[in-house]
Amino acid sequence: MNEGDMRQRLMVALDMPDARQALHLRDQLAEHVGWFKVGLRLFVAEGTALVRELLESHKVFLDLKFHDIPNTVAQAIESAGALGVQMVNVHAAGGSEMLKRASEAASAFPDMQLIAVTVLTSDNMPAQQAKLVAVERALLARDAGLHGVVCSVHEVESIKKACGDSFVTVTPGIRWGRQDVQDQKRVADPAMAVQQGSDYLVIGRPIIQAAMPVDAADEAVRMMLQGLD
Ligand code: C5P
Repeated sequence: MNEGDMRQRLMVALDMPDARQALHLRDQLAEHVGWFKVGLRLFVAEGTALVRELLESHKVFLDLKFHDIPNTVAQAIESAGALGVQMVNVHAAGGSEMLKRASEAASAFPDMQLIAVTVLTSDNMPAQQAKLVAVERALLARDAGLHGVVCSVHEVESIKKACGDSFVTVTPGIRWGRQDVQDQKRVADPAMAVQQGSDYLVIGRPIIQAAMPVDAADEAVRMMLQGLD
């Protein structure tokens, strides 16, 4: 794996207030990262028009964490598929029936990965308990036909062991050096994330609030490469 491959595993969370700021950052990071993640803040402010614009240059993870009755979630997944995003997520806590309906809806869109949130990386749950719950929810997601899960780096190894190597893990809660962990609890640095087998690293504030976002993204990629050693 080379630097280019690592950039394709880095997802920058565009948790910005409006399209102008989001697109400015997209332009700055254009050649440096493969994915952008659109979450609640930006989507509520700017909606699908911005997602379409991002899709012209990058892959997009629509991180809206659907959690509702099975029918409503399945319909939301259809809308995400029609929009053309490459990744979308639901809460595994929504239960098996919801996950199965979501997975059926996603199967009409082979280029879109459907991912379940296991335990939020900001959750205060003790690490050992978080691991058990994350593995249990990952198995539920795998059995329902989902492609993978969002989890902390600390749970990747156990999840891969339980669900198989090709089951995708997407890990937020990435911090390095003297960075403030903010509201995240179960954090790890980019090298450790890659070492543990995380497929995609989600990084928000350490890049988007950096004085030099390009340098921060490049530093993350360099550390990811160290994780391969
Ligand atoms: O700024 P920071 O790097 O903490 O951003 C992490 C991003 O990942 C945020 O957009 C957050 O909503 C998202 N996320 C998370 N934990 C999850 C799922 C998504 O932190 N379980």
